[in-house]
Amino acid sequence: MIGLIKKIKFDIKSDRLGPDCPFTHWRLFFKKEMTTICKKKFLSFGENAEIRPYSFIVNCSKISIGNRVVIRPGTMLFADNRFPDKGKITIENDVLIGSGVHIYVSNHAYGKKGVPIIEQGHFDPQDTILKKGCWIGANSVLLPGVVIGENSIVGAGSIVTKSIPANVVVAGNPAKTIKNLS
Ligand SMILES: CC(C)(COP(=O)(O)OP(=O)(O)OC[C@H]1O[C@@H](n2cnc3c(N)ncnc32)[C@H](O)[C@@H]1OP(=O)(O)O)[C@@H](O)C(=O)NCCC(=O)NCCS
Repeated sequence: MIGLIKKIKFDIKSDRLGPDCPFTHWRLFFKKEMTTICKKKFLSFGENAEIRPYSFIVNCSKISIGNRVVIRPGTMLFADNRFPDKGKITIENDVLIGSGVHIYVSNHAYGKKGVPIIEQGHFDPQDTILKKGCWIGANSVLLPGVVIGENSIVGAGSIVTKSIPANVVVAGNPAKTIKNLS
């Protein structure tokens, strides 16, 4: 019983949302509840933005979500709260994010030969930014520090290792431009 009360308190106070926090996650199933919990947890949460259930969000207070953004189920947004001025995820207005997309801002450090990665800490985080109107296809991965340009498209299953300009379609691993839209 004490464990249950602790877990309820943790879910309510933690800087997370997702199925691993069931006492707040249920709110994502109901639009009004979803908006209320998201406005409370995120750095900012725009008008008519939607986060669908089964998304995992870590360090919500370092993530801003613009107006009319849609984030489909199974997506993971993983920000970093170690520094006040870096490690943010910024998702501008009108961005669409498909199912199962992963967005990161930091990497494990790995420079010390023979030392397990788990003992090496992390590199400093970088901000990852999705500019206005872009669309991220299902099961893509955006690596730390990338900027997705305005109205650009990331094809399903892409691994984005470098920033991409506005008005292009990229796809593949590593993601490369397959079309220009301008
Ligand atoms: C990126 C996308 C929009 C491009 O669609 P399109 O403009 O019709 O592209 P085409 O089918 O003309 O493909 C152009 C080339 O890119 C390749 N390509 C397209 N999408 C690709 C992808 N996701 N990964 C790798 N290659 C891809 C095609 O094989 C084709 O190669 P070819 O010229 O050698 O034959 C589409 O392929 C896609 O990935 N959509 C995402 C769907 C999704 O995730 N929906 C989630 C719901 S929000």
